[in-house]
Amino acid sequence: MKDLLRIADLGSDDLMLLLRLSADFHRVPDSAHDLLAHQIVPMYFAKPSTRTRLSTAAAVTRLGGTPIAVGPDELQLRRGETIADTARVMGAYSAAIVIRTYADADVADLAEAAPVPVVNALTDGHHPLQAVADLLTVQQHFGSLRGHRVAYFGDGGNVARSLMEAAALAGMDVAIATPPGYAPPEEAVAFAAAEGRRRGGAVLVTEDPAEAVKDASVVYTDVWLSMGDADDERARRAEALAPYRVDERLMARARDDAVFMHCLPAHRGQEVTAGVIDGARSLVFQQAANRLPAAQAVLFALLTERLDGRP
Ligand code: CP
Ligand code: NVA
Repeated sequence: MKDLLRIADLGSDDLMLLLRLSADFHRVPDSAHDLLAHQIVPMYFAKPSTRTRLSTAAAVTRLGGTPIAVGPDELQLRRGETIADTARVMGAYSAAIVIRTYADADVADLAEAAPVPVVNALTDGHHPLQAVADLLTVQQHFGSLRGHRVAYFGDGGNVARSLMEAAALAGMDVAIATPPGYAPPEEAVAFAAAEGRRRGGAVLVTEDPAEAVKDASVVYTDVWLSMGDADDERARRAEALAPYRVDERLMARARDDAVFMHCLPAHRGQEVTAGVIDGARSLVFQQAANRLPAAQAVLFALLTERLDGRP
């Protein structure tokens, strides 16, 4: 496997390897410190980012390389150069390419033409780096993944999709509660259901938050309006998603030892109450910190050709 574009491209062994490597890099941050010596990793960000941009830059630096951030106005893409030409040229100087943009098809085109690994740093459809850090966080907290239910509430977008795919691949139980019209794509639900059957994890997609939260070890949510969603959708989304807000009442219906997770950035009073995200059961800053070893693990695994994509 040359690239990491979406979690569903990974085999279960690949995901487990990424989690082991993430834990290793968490313990010994500068192991493999010369893997990328004298090499650059361009990081193209067409959307804003705090965690992904900085953790990935830090990961490249810890692996001995130099991250170079480039925005849409700095490359020739805006002036008509094709993605394929850009990929070929970038690949001549770079060890890998990190990209955050809108359309998954653009990242697929880039990966196809690039002779080096391409890492999806968030698209409209996926957020694989986040999901690896999320499972690392669950594993650190509970000591295991299997036997735990992760329950997600709100918009079934990129973060929900990658989380659902990763949890199912890891054999966890997963429940996604969204309003009508906000569920993850059918293809993602089918992937999770198939993995769940294969690995013994229960997969539930429902419109009922009470059903999803039952027996949950992890209660997870994401923003109601994602980057790239039209601003004039804000009010409609807020109305549809309000019943899926994570508040103290919802947390009380999860397991007694349940934790709260959020990819961040968060909006207190919208998708989560301040009491929950700033409370004792919140793991959000541990999660954010784990983005760094997870990014190191993904880059390391791709650069040393450790992932094979076998189911
Ligand atoms: N969670 C996450 O990806 O955050 P950023 O958008 O700040 O990178
Ligand atoms: N769903 C959000 C995640 C941000 C990390 C977005 O795409 O904006």
